[in-house]
Amino acid sequence: MLEKEVTERHRPVMPEEVLALLAPERGGLIVDATLGMGGHTELILGSAPAVQVLGLDRDAESIRLAEERLARFGDRFKAVQSDYREIASVVAERGLESVDGILVDLGISSYQLDNPERGFSFRGGEAALDMRMDRSQGETAADLINRLAEGELADLIFEYGEERASRRIARRIIQEREVAPIGTTAQLAELVIRAVNQPGHWKIHPATKTFQALRIAVNQELDGLGDFVTAAVELLKPEGRLVIITFHSLEDRMIKQALRLEAGQCKCPPRQMLCVCGARRKIEILTRKALVPSEEEVKRNPRARSAKLRACRRLDG
Ligand SMILES: C[S@@+](CC[C@H](N)C(=O)[O-])C[C@H]1O[C@@H](n2cnc3c(N)ncnc32)[C@H](O)[C@@H]1O
Repeated sequence: MLEKEVTERHRPVMPEEVLALLAPERGGLIVDATLGMGGHTELILGSAPAVQVLGLDRDAESIRLAEERLARFGDRFKAVQSDYREIASVVAERGLESVDGILVDLGISSYQLDNPERGFSFRGGEAALDMRMDRSQGETAADLINRLAEGELADLIFEYGEERASRRIARRIIQEREVAPIGTTAQLAELVIRAVNQPGHWKIHPATKTFQALRIAVNQELDGLGDFVTAAVELLKPEGRLVIITFHSLEDRMIKQALRLEAGQCKCPPRQMLCVCGARRKIEILTRKALVPSEEEVKRNPRARSAKLRACRRLDG
């Protein structure tokens, strides 16, 4: 794929806000823990000549494309295929104890979504229902929907997709898979349309929420988010910044709570007179309320519409 194609496929979300809060002009090393197409990293490297970026992504193809795109930055950019939940060991393996900034832009990239082979999209036609970000391991979406019980499927689609028709969709999945296993994106998209009984015109494709729910489950996207925030804060130098962009209300809630704990909020039961939990204020939260993209940005880049950004600054000690 050509570099230009890659650049056009994924527009980095909330670019000005990310740069203002990460403050790369301070120099040092920033970890882009969800490198994707390297859109944010390109902005960071381009905006501050003294800064270096270490990019992580679970997806080997994304790493390769980002490396091509960012080759002109030479030694200022390095990439490692890794889960961001391994950030502490990735940084330690490079002989470092701390970093100046960490950026996390959760979810999937437009490259992953638009690439039919990856099975993330209801527009994928006869593509295999895969949805794994790291294609070297784990269960595919097809494995999952052909294995789970009806109630488990309904709960998953409701919780991760916020889909009100989750029970009808789960029922239809069970009926169809009794005839033959469900294997393609088209099969799943069509059965959802039939289950929600919405043929014809729609603003958002009826299968959007079901596909989102399966993707979150396949990649266990909500697991360990709180622990990740703790590990990231631990890695920051004093004045170091952590910037997190989420696209799902459950993710945002988890990040908000994890940041509050790092900001010293006591975990003791409300009626307890004395604090015994040892809460310590390690960060200052820089976004009292989550930031959201401007209307102009959403017009330019509709995929930014559900983004929420939270950030903090590491305090001394
Ligand atoms: C929204 S995209 C990032 C786009 C990027 N900021 C840009 O501007 O090009 C999210 C990326 O995070 C990666 N990702 C998701 N979960 C991950 C995880 N647990 N560890 C590492 N990478 C992950 C996905 O593979 C995807 O490439």
